[in-house]
Amino acid sequence: MKQIIVAITGATGALYPLRLLKRLCQQENLLMHIIISPWGEQVMVEETGRTFLQWLDELPFASYQLHDHKDLASSLSSGSFSIDAMVVIPCTMGTLGGIACGLSSNLIERAASVTLKERRPLILVARETPLSSIHLQQMLLLSNAGAMILPPVPTFYNHPETVEDIVDSTVDRVLDTLSLSDEKIKRWSSSK
Ligand SMILES: Cc1cc2nc3c(=O)[nH]c(=O)nc-3n(C[C@H](O)[C@H](O)[C@H](O)COP(=O)(O)O)c2cc1C
Repeated sequence: MKQIIVAITGATGALYPLRLLKRLCQQENLLMHIIISPWGEQVMVEETGRTFLQWLDELPFASYQLHDHKDLASSLSSGSFSIDAMVVIPCTMGTLGGIACGLSSNLIERAASVTLKERRPLILVARETPLSSIHLQQMLLLSNAGAMILPPVPTFYNHPETVEDIVDSTVDRVLDTLSLSDEKIKRWSSSK
């Protein structure tokens, strides 16, 4: 069974993790470990009108474990726990900076630090604009350390018609990177 950590922080774009979780739920032999920061919770309520727990109740046949953001004694804090990959979606500049500096002041930072030290895939859906030199330098540091910086930048060649289509163009890339592609992924194909 594959085990993936999905961490949610307080950047705008609550639909990204919700859509990713919905798509991951349809995968077989996958256990999701979910962590959400207090600001991730707050932004989700602000943007969707519902709490994360209310959204979780809707996941069809979810195979997941929810971990407390403050719980540094969680299994996810240890490199001995077998995890295949981690994605932070969306990823604030605060959390990105914390990971870049090697902080472990909460479970998201600690799990990301473990993911990097164990040389496992770490995907950061970094959301901010414009970017300062500090953000760019920290992204370069993380990229050099093996993380993938995957900002939520939509594609338009697939002619999105709904907000969900736009969100999916980023979720598709995350799934590809996790080697968990599904049949819903839209790819560029030339009309010529
Ligand atoms: C509505 C709203 C939208 C936000 N959007 C962003 C954002 O896009 N990027 C970002 O880095 N911070 C954003 N923030 C600020 C973060 O939530 C804040 O820095 C917080 O301390 C991040 O904590 P966390 O990384 O533990 O979730 C936003 C805050 C609010 C209330």
